[in-house]
Amino acid sequence: MSGQQFRFDDGAVYERMMGIWSRLAGDHFLDWLAPAPGLTWVDVGCGNGAFTQLLVDRCAPAAIEAVDPVEGQIAYARNRIADPPARFQQGNAMALPFADRQFDAAVMALVIFFVPDPAKGAAEMVRVVKPGGWVSAYAWDVPGNGLPVGPIRAELRAIGRETPLPSNHQVSSLQGLADLWTGAGLEAVETRELVVQRTFADFDDYWSTSILAPGLSTAIAALPEPTLDQLRQKVKARLTPGPDGRIQETSRANAVKGMVRR
Ligand SMILES: C[S@@+](CC[C@H](N)C(=O)[O-])C[C@H]1O[C@@H](n2cnc3c(N)ncnc32)[C@H](O)[C@@H]1O
Repeated sequence: MSGQQFRFDDGAVYERMMGIWSRLAGDHFLDWLAPAPGLTWVDVGCGNGAFTQLLVDRCAPAAIEAVDPVEGQIAYARNRIADPPARFQQGNAMALPFADRQFDAAVMALVIFFVPDPAKGAAEMVRVVKPGGWVSAYAWDVPGNGLPVGPIRAELRAIGRETPLPSNHQVSSLQGLADLWTGAGLEAVETRELVVQRTFADFDDYWSTSILAPGLSTAIAALPEPTLDQLRQKVKARLTPGPDGRIQETSRANAVKGMVRR
């Protein structure tokens, strides 16, 4: 699928749909990673700073260098987090604009499956981290149907409309991530499934937020009005609201970590 369908241009729209999901997953990820305070970090594919914000709030970083190819996302990130501790610049995971062995830790939050050559992306993180430092990532478990907005995707599929997936989604299985990290020469490689729950105020909140999902909004916009209405009703029928009308959705991500050889 074309990477163009996953261009994240608008930091505010991203925040409402995916930024909140990313931080919910990121909280579980950091519980598992349990990094020491005072580290220097590189956040690769930082987007609008959703996960960078968690690093600032939870990890007492000495410094964070954050890169993303999309200026619209970085502009949002610069507004939400002061410099220091986080500095944002345009950059690509395939050629990080940093020296060898510069950081204590490198991280990719929901990015590895978008990188054109994931092995090169992993190798670049290894290159810029000091011996004994950590390289880690989390990504939605696409092969295991862990992506958010599963009910809408399922109903679109039922009417013959496939939604695009990240171009290298196969690497986001637990085994795919473990193989990638081991192949990059990392040691003490471990993986972990992250089960992520998000609550929406009601069905309208769920629907209006979820149809902003990258890759989904284009498929939805192409539907004629009666089909869109039917789709909405079918998705609604799949979801069981709580007594207060709230809707809870569960998604799953996979995480990986490994240490750079001393
Ligand atoms: C789902 S967003 C994740 C953003 C952020 N890390 C978060 O947790 O919310 C994916 C991000 O990967 C970025 N991206 C895509 N291809 C990339 C590449 N080759 N190098 C670095 N970042 C890339 C996109 O611009 C986008 O901001």
